[in-house]
Amino acid sequence: MAAQTFYAGGGLNPDAAVFIPGQKAAPGFIPGLLSKPPGVFKATAEPASEAPANEKDQLLSFLANIPTPNRNRQMPSFLANIPTPNQASAEVQKANVKEEPKEQELPPVISVRKMTSKGCAIVILRDRRVMELAIAMKVAVVDGICIEVRRHTRDKLPKDEQPLGVFCAWGFRVERRMAVSEEGLEEYFNGLSKVAQPEGLDEEAPFEETLQYFALSSQGPLAMDTKPKADRANASQMLDGPHGRPDLVNNLWDAKQQLEDLWQRPPPPMGRSLMQRVAREQLFPHSGKEGTEHENRAGEKLEELATAVGLLDGVPKNSSFLDLCGGPGAWSQFLLEKPELAMKGFGFTLRSHSGEKGDWNAEEKDDWYPELAENRNWTALWGEDGTGDLLKPKNLEHCTQQLRDQGGVFLCLADGGFSDKAIPPNQLELYFYRLFLAELLTAASCLQPGGRFVCKLYTSCSAATSSLLFLTTRLFDDVAIVKPMTSRVAGPERYLYASGFRQGAETTEVRAALSQSQAFGAGASPLETPLLTPIVGANELSKDTQFLEQLRTMVSTLCFRQAGALQAIVDQAVYLEDIALDAAEESAKHAKYWEAAAAVQREIHMAERAVERAAKQERRDAENAENARPVQNVPWQASKGSKTGGHGRRDRNTNKKFSQAGWQ
Ligand SMILES: C[S@@+](CC[C@H](N)C(=O)[O-])C[C@H]1O[C@@H](n2cnc3c(N)ncnc32)[C@H](O)[C@@H]1O
Repeated sequence: MAAQTFYAGGGLNPDAAVFIPGQKAAPGFIPGLLSKPPGVFKATAEPASEAPANEKDQLLSFLANIPTPNRNRQMPSFLANIPTPNQASAEVQKANVKEEPKEQELPPVISVRKMTSKGCAIVILRDRRVMELAIAMKVAVVDGICIEVRRHTRDKLPKDEQPLGVFCAWGFRVERRMAVSEEGLEEYFNGLSKVAQPEGLDEEAPFEETLQYFALSSQGPLAMDTKPKADRANASQMLDGPHGRPDLVNNLWDAKQQLEDLWQRPPPPMGRSLMQRVAREQLFPHSGKEGTEHENRAGEKLEELATAVGLLDGVPKNSSFLDLCGGPGAWSQFLLEKPELAMKGFGFTLRSHSGEKGDWNAEEKDDWYPELAENRNWTALWGEDGTGDLLKPKNLEHCTQQLRDQGGVFLCLADGGFSDKAIPPNQLELYFYRLFLAELLTAASCLQPGGRFVCKLYTSCSAATSSLLFLTTRLFDDVAIVKPMTSRVAGPERYLYASGFRQGAETTEVRAALSQSQAFGAGASPLETPLLTPIVGANELSKDTQFLEQLRTMVSTLCFRQAGALQAIVDQAVYLEDIALDAAEESAKHAKYWEAAAAVQREIHMAERAVERAAKQERRDAENAENARPVQNVPWQASKGSKTGGHGRRDRNTNKKFSQAGWQ
């Protein structure tokens, strides 16, 4: 590759630092520091042997007087009397205009700027190949920490004026435990200039990423067991369910185990989960996607689902909805933000920390968004005991009675879910059974005729879950299982969508059977009493061949896709980690090549930063002086609200809004 002629510069703004042949020298070039170039290196040769002798000598004597790269940089004394920015840039420009560009080789990295509080950095480069390679690899291991590497772009600049640079992110949580250094980043990207591009960077997903839709229907009613008992939650409930494909379920569990095993791989770079996330985003870009339109990811999924099934098509104006197990409330917000529907909303969700010791307890982040409580068109219901626990039969009755008293609801949307370390692996579906049952019973107890029901589910392997799906086909005209693209492809989640709620004797019978089962659970914690015997037994279900066939297709397809996605993500995460570790090793060898030149450059940047700081200080002083002057009270400025209004995104842990967008 021909040696390119790039000049160090890096004005006050690091993004302006790239100097391309044929363009003017970048402003901010510090005279005297590099007015004599530190040396000439050819890209394809070792620096010491190929630098011309006189320049090499010049370089050596020059370098003898500057500190060698070290991790605790000190401000050199000669920078103490730096001119103010205006003087500096005037002198710089004068000095550079006189300078004829000479061929020289400078390190690929121009500058590194780390944002410690966010755990990220911007690395400005002069070597396009390094940038392209780093972006193609997507990840790196720097100072033993996994980082994500993306193209750095500046919103205000058009495409062809974007700086050459990368955005590196490892997150503030990792940074708090172990820091990635600017020097480590600089060394890594400099060394990358001599690293060959690994094979197989453009791996693709094993199957197309599309929304999955499976219609379910039944041929007629089946006998129901109205004397439920507690059932054992164990692996055989999952393997031997009506789906008839234990092999697929076993494959899925193997794939999940491989994901678990990733944590045991030696040697462990820190923040390894990043590799899985990056692998998933590469293979399945929509899966688990965080959008900007909703308060949380649940909103994203509901919107995709709603569009796909026409959830809101033909909903009568001024209808009511119930957002069941809906905290913190992105679904309610989605529905309330449809002015053309003018809907009235009700919410029912578990109050944080309301459960007994040993129960699964909701946290503050699950509590309703405060904006909902302030909305005149929305009301929170809490059930008889005020806990909002739907598993308690009296709470369910209390809530549905209140809704019936106001005429029922047209939409019942249920997104109940919980996780707990006490749930044995691969049995989430079984521990979720009673909540699903309670959600279906709630819908059947408060929906208006023709009403619609959405309910989140996990896998549907057991006879108990399958029987609830069967009963749904008896309660509604149209039933389907939908997995939106935004729902994690490697996760068990999917949604039941049912429309055309039926009234009549069969509905009354089904409701009574559901009610019996719910009463049997007697509000016990799902961790204590997870599973009950199926309302429609496996033998009965086998009589409806149409339903069974559709159920099998749905279960096996989603099982196959989940296992395939997990396997592909594991393979890709391992591959990404391997290439990142190899590149880190290779790059460390080559970084020495740039050590001296990088040291010179760092001094330049230190000078620039000092100039920048001085300018900032000057501005601050001027502002302080201005503010110190007595000001008249301006009443209309005193109580301005937030400009962002009520819909900024939230911190998952605290349920508080982010004050500014930031990578985490
Ligand atoms: C995935 S979140 C719902 C997210 C919501 N759809 C949104 O848009 O923000 C699941 C919710 O189910 C609630 N939940 C779990 N068990 C419950 C129970 N027994 N009764 C009521 N709510 C429950 C959780 O507290 C949590 O708020």
